[in-house]
Amino acid sequence: MIIVIDGPAGSGKSSTAKEIANRLKIQYLDSGAIYRAITYLWIAADKPEKNTFLDLLPEVDLETAYKRQTFFVELNGADITKNIRNQNVTESVSDIASLPEIRKFVNGYMRNLVLDDVYIADGRDLGTAVFPDAALKIYMDASLDERAKRRFNELQQTDSTAGVSLDEVKQNLNERDRKDQSRAADPLKKADDAIVINTTGKTFDEQVSEIIDIIQNKLKLKY
Ligand code: CDP
Repeated sequence: MIIVIDGPAGSGKSSTAKEIANRLKIQYLDSGAIYRAITYLWIAADKPEKNTFLDLLPEVDLETAYKRQTFFVELNGADITKNIRNQNVTESVSDIASLPEIRKFVNGYMRNLVLDDVYIADGRDLGTAVFPDAALKIYMDASLDERAKRRFNELQQTDSTAGVSLDEVKQNLNERDRKDQSRAADPLKKADDAIVINTTGKTFDEQVSEIIDIIQNKLKLKY
């Protein structure tokens, strides 16, 4: 069974989904982390042309696991959990994620992963394209200013991105939203049957409780 949360960058999807996974004792899947891992591979391979890059995909060995509040990602045996949050990955990820062949690869990985357990997953197109039959669909949103502030504060706590200003964070979110919403292949879009949660002005605890209530009303998970 899968519950999905879609929405724009920095809307609080992943921190909310992780907290819900902990409280309801279910699994968590971070679809953006997988696009970031593929983007990391592209950068590590010296940014090859599209067809050369796509030829590498069949060789990709991707392992993911959610433990200790962290979605771990291993690529070809190397732990790249931290590297995928670096600014160079963040700047290129929406371009790599716009390639239909890459989306097909990531979707196949995710559909296979969730077969045997209860998952909550966050992304852009999970409710529309990847899991149209999800048990429950949430669409989280917040104003660009609020999302930029939250992401900036988050980045301040990691050393890998030191030096990025609030304005740069805001520009990056805005640019990624634009690319994610306008791409031809599975753009960011609210599914018709998704429940919208606008988190502007809400505390983290309020948004988590609101979504848990919705989940429990509809799915009555035992935990
Ligand atoms: O955490 P943040 O909102 O910054 O982004 P993310 O969830 O790590 O996703 C990074 C990028 O991957 C997004 O900006 C999208 O371009 C892409 N992505 C996607 O195309 N489809 C998804 N289901 C998830 C992410």
